[in-house]
This record gives sequence, structure tokens and C-alpha cells, in this order.
Amino acid sequence: MRRTTLRGTDNFPIGIIGGTGGMGRWFADFFEKEGHPVLVSGRDRGARPAEMAGACPVVIVSVPIGATQDVIRQVGPCMKRESLLMDLTSLKAGPVRAMLESSASEVIGLHPLFGPSVLRLEGQNIVICPARGGKWLPWVRDVFGRKGAKLVEATPERHDEIMAVVQALNHLDTIVMGLAIRQSGLEREIRESFSTPILRGKLAMIDRVFSNPRLHTELITANPHTARVLRLYREVLDRVGEVAVKGSAADLAAALRRSAPG
Ligand SMILES: NC(=O)c1ccc[n+]([C@@H]2O[C@H](COP(=O)([O-])OP(=O)(O)OC[C@H]3O[C@@H](n4cnc5c(N)ncnc54)[C@H](OP(=O)(O)O)[C@@H]3O)[C@@H](O)[C@H]2O)c1
Repeated sequence: MRRTTLRGTDNFPIGIIGGTGGMGRWFADFFEKEGHPVLVSGRDRGARPAEMAGACPVVIVSVPIGATQDVIRQVGPCMKRESLLMDLTSLKAGPVRAMLESSASEVIGLHPLFGPSVLRLEGQNIVICPARGGKWLPWVRDVFGRKGAKLVEATPERHDEIMAVVQALNHLDTIVMGLAIRQSGLEREIRESFSTPILRGKLAMIDRVFSNPRLHTELITANPHTARVLRLYREVLDRVGEVAVKGSAADLAAALRRSAPG
């Protein structure tokens, strides 16, 4: 499927594998507004990898985490040396390694720290993992930076270590809370009549995670640092739980005061 804009005729085309999905569509719209013709594909729609690599100097992979490395290994060998292969995957070490191993092109890993419901790029964080070549990096910095995105560079390994807290710990906590509420046997009554505004906020987050299990569970299970953050979570829960059950409110408050942000 070819999506073109009149403004894009003097600009190079960009291919997005997975451009029929949430993030892929978001970036297709973004680049079209920037004046680029955009080719998108899904599993059974649009240009095949070789066709996309032949037509587009920039190819972006935006497919589910579990399919990413296979897709990269299909398109990588078709990429021209002077082109750019990029991905939007929420984990970076595996996909960046696969892009380096399977292609001779320039390689940049990208992780937009927002979902497709975001309306504007301004103020949103994007992690950039430059991996091979230097010709395309200024373009990447410019195309997102001039729209107000906050860009940070990291190695893929450091990115995944930090995402173990941002994503794995965060979503595990939401899943545990959701399952505990469910197993309390009180969920229906709470949702109908007993929720507070704070709990309604948490329930909205729980519903979001439970309604898109594939992405959220992959963010947990595919991160190599999950076991370490889970150990930390257990230690903290045990320590705080001990004070909560055996101590006083003053003891618990003192424990909170002692833990300055670090
Ligand atoms: N959603 C987020 O909040 C978010 C945020 C940051 C980064 N990301 C990353 O963005 C990527 C895409 O996530 P998403 O939420 O946009 O997923 P999505 O909405 O499920 O879209 C997935 C896309 O990949 C295609 N696809 C699925 N399986 C495939 C396969 N085996 N081979 C080739 N194409 C396949 C789908 O095409 P068809 O269905 O048309 O076949 C669709 O275009 C993931 O790597 C994710 O980690 C997501």
C-alpha cells in the first residue's frame, strides 16, 4: 500500500514495516506531515521487505516485540549500505544486535516513550541508540527535535536496564494490584460504589494493561533485567509489609521519610 502526500514529492520515501499498527501508523502520519511519502506494510498488506528496502532510504520496523528480530532479519540483508535501518521496539539490545548482524546499512535503535494515543510530539521523550554510521543521526535528531521531542541517547543495554524499572516493574506492579483486587472478591462492589478518585485512576491503568496483554507482558518477560527488579520489588514489599503489619503509622511514615529519592 502506498501513502503519498503532494508535499512529499521532493522528499525521500520512508518505509514502515508494521505501519498498519498503532505506533507504525502514528509515525506514518508524522512523517507524512513532514512531507515524506510513506510506504506501510502489515503481515498481508503493503510492500514486501525487499521492495521496501529498494524503494526507501529509511526503513523502520514497528512490529510486536516477539516478531521483531525475525522481521529485521528479513529486511536487513536487503538494505543498501547508505540507507538507514531503524526500529521502534520497546526493548533495544536484541533488535539493535539483529539490525547490526543482518544489514550493512546505518543502524539506529529508537524507542519513543509514548503510545499511539499521544497527539503531539512536543515534550515527549525519545531514546536514541546510535549503532552504526553517522550520516543519518543528524537527520533523526533534527526531525524529532524540531517538533519539541526530548531526545536522550543511550546504549541498548543501558536502555533495557532502565526500562526494567520504567516498564517491567511498573506493569508488574499494575498486574499484581489488578489480580489482588480481583482475588479479594470485592472488585464488583468497589467498582460500582466504593471507589475513590485515586483508586479510579489505578483501575483505569489496570484496565489498560489487562486489555492489551501482549505488549505489556512482552515488556516484562522479554527484558533480561526483570528478575533483578522483581527481587528488589519483593525485598521492598517484605520490608514495608513488615512495618505495616507490626509497626505503627509513625514507623511507616519514618520509613518513607528515610528513603530520599536516589
Ligand atoms: N504501543 C505502544 O505504546 C508502544 C510504545 C513505544 C514502542 N512500541 C513498540 O512499537 C512496536 C509496535 O507496537 P504496536 O503497539 O504499534 O503494535 P500493534 O498495534 O500490534 O501493530 C503491530 C504491527 O505489526 C504488524 N505485525 C504483526 N505481527 C507481524 C509479523 N509477525 N510480521 C510482520 N508484521 C507483523 C501488524 O500488521 P497487521 O496486523 O496489519 O498484519 C501491525 O502493523 C513494538 O515493538 C512496541 O514495543 C509500542
